[in-house]
Amino acid sequence: MKARHPFPATAIHLSISMIKKVSVDDLRVGVYVTDFNTPIAHKGSIYIEPGPISRESTIKILKSWGVGQVDIDTSLGLDPETLPKNKKRKVTSPAGPNNPRPRIRPSVPLKIERNVALEVSREAMRAVEHAYQDVMRGDVPEAGQFYDIAERMYDSIHRNSDALILLGRIREKDTYTLQHSVSVCTYVLAMCQYYDMSESQSLDLAVGALFHDIGKAIIPLSVLNKPGKLTAEEVQIMKRHAEYSSELLHQVQGIPQHCVDVALHHHERYDGTGYPHGLRREQISFPVQLTSVCDVFDALVSERCYKPGLETVMGLRMIYEGGGTHFNRELAYDFIRCIGMYPVGTCVVLADGRSGVVMESTEDVKRPVVKVLYDETKRERLPRPIRVDLSKTGGEIACYSNASTLFGCTHEGQLLRKLFAV
Ligand SMILES: [Fe+2]
Ligand SMILES: [Fe+2]
Repeated sequence: MKARHPFPATAIHLSISMIKKVSVDDLRVGVYVTDFNTPIAHKGSIYIEPGPISRESTIKILKSWGVGQVDIDTSLGLDPETLPKNKKRKVTSPAGPNNPRPRIRPSVPLKIERNVALEVSREAMRAVEHAYQDVMRGDVPEAGQFYDIAERMYDSIHRNSDALILLGRIREKDTYTLQHSVSVCTYVLAMCQYYDMSESQSLDLAVGALFHDIGKAIIPLSVLNKPGKLTAEEVQIMKRHAEYSSELLHQVQGIPQHCVDVALHHHERYDGTGYPHGLRREQISFPVQLTSVCDVFDALVSERCYKPGLETVMGLRMIYEGGGTHFNRELAYDFIRCIGMYPVGTCVVLADGRSGVVMESTEDVKRPVVKVLYDETKRERLPRPIRVDLSKTGGEIACYSNASTLFGCTHEGQLLRKLFAV
């Protein structure tokens, strides 16, 4: 990708410019990049323009693209060689007791935001449904309404990300395809917030997520909703949805090119074993990689007519195990950090022997608010649930528990529905 210099190349500038190549590992905020040296132009052309690095997240994204060296101009920004060396980044592990990340404090309590989020989520599902109907009629959906919905979801995530994430886990298996698009969009927006991406970049990625499976509207329902295992031929039919999605989006006016890319390649895998093109590593763009990890996680934790949904904790574990093979390892770990050690609705046992369900995040990722329902030592349910804010009491979570053994619910979604009355 060639640099598009934001300033006129005056003779004075050219005479003092100091272009040199540096490793992405040595980049810092304040360094001026003139060329990302990546052969895949669409990666940088949409998301990162040549210019000064103003955020750590930009460096992180470049690493996830697999960019090795970039050209910098030391007359316009910092020279990494004159700065103290970066500490070598350790191989990171998912959020754990020794590796918590600070959480962004929600500006609105969950109990308030969930009502707004419920309405936004329903509208998003209606919008996706209308787009599916357009495609089934042979019409091309419009992008405008998707940006409106994406903006409302973006606002909700930034007020309190727990609300939409929670709603995504309380769902009907009959509406899987619609709910899936909205949930993937929710996770994508949560990741954008985690990476501190701009609103316009976040909205572009969100619209890509809402549309990523639109080609499923062309797949016969007998295959799409088949309760049993698909035959080899049906698997091939199902796989075509990626190409159908990209062909459809290609016709939608106002859709950024990366949405078409996300639609076509969201089933590619980091190790090259995905489809339709067997792309690997840096051949897979950042928007695709980011959407893919959200897509797989949602599919894992969703109940389908042919399988129960995994509990969130188990879904996160699968994402962890896919780091380095199915996904870029850093991206997979970032996803786990973003969702958190104890997402709302997680069943936990406290160090004092009581157990309950996480009801709210706090700024302390290890100490959420827990609704305590059961006394493990006496093996009996408490007469009345007790709300315990571990960030205030200093209490500890000892281990994870499980909805079925503790609360007699068949799956996590049922428990969440009961607790949050959604
Ligand atoms: Fe898909
Ligand atoms: Fe999907």
